[in-house]
Amino acid sequence: MTLVPGRQAWRPESIVGDRVVLRRHRSENLTAFTRWYSDPEVARLTRYQVGPLSAEEIQRFFHGRIMGADFMAMAIHVRDTDRLVGTCAFSQLDGDNGSTLFHITIGERDAWGQGYGSEATGLMVAHAFTRLALHRVALTVFEFNPRAIRAYEKCGFTVEGRARDAIFRDGRFWDELHMSIIAEDWEARQKQG
Ligand SMILES: CC(C)(COP(=O)(O)OP(=O)(O)OC[C@H]1O[C@@H](n2cnc3c(N)ncnc32)[C@H](O)[C@@H]1OP(=O)(O)O)[C@@H](O)C(=O)NCCC(=O)NCCS
Repeated sequence: MTLVPGRQAWRPESIVGDRVVLRRHRSENLTAFTRWYSDPEVARLTRYQVGPLSAEEIQRFFHGRIMGADFMAMAIHVRDTDRLVGTCAFSQLDGDNGSTLFHITIGERDAWGQGYGSEATGLMVAHAFTRLALHRVALTVFEFNPRAIRAYEKCGFTVEGRARDAIFRDGRFWDELHMSIIAEDWEARQKQG
């Protein structure tokens, strides 16, 4: 998929939901980004490696991927206050197969469990199946992250497989779940309302 020429169309300025607004990242978001990805609990839930990224790695990730041309990243803001609470993204956008991988981090811990993550996920999935005309959105999540698994299930993702004992954390091995939603699943949910 050639992403750069049609970029305005596939990465809109904003995607507006009921309680969150997704906006393109701005360079000043690096400060919040650095705080989120320095948090050991965020690292525990999102990284294969033990411990958070270094400040230099976060900076490289932010400028190279988040602000880059082939990673569709959007900042998650609370709609009422415009507070920046997290980030979500599509990577591996594959036009030949109509698929992508989804990622999300609500970095502000006090914003967890308030419905922002599932709403942002639902907005991105709707964007994938409408504006981007994709067929499949996939993700991976660690077995020990029930909040994330529940948020994804609420948006229509189902578990399609598991990589057994793929991650060693807190003194034991855990599976990594592979979840996906395909266009037909999403359309059926839209009809159900
Ligand atoms: C995962 C994440 C995106 C979810 O977003 P969120 O806004 O916190 O979650 P939501 O409030 O939308 O939904 C969470 C759901 O999980 C449920 N939940 C929370 N803790 C749970 C637990 N321990 N067991 C089972 N369900 C749980 C909530 O009750 C809610 O479901 P409900 O609406 O049916 O009650 C967010 O918490 C986050 O970014 N966490 C840190 C990084 C991370 O884990 N990223 C994902 C990596 S794959």
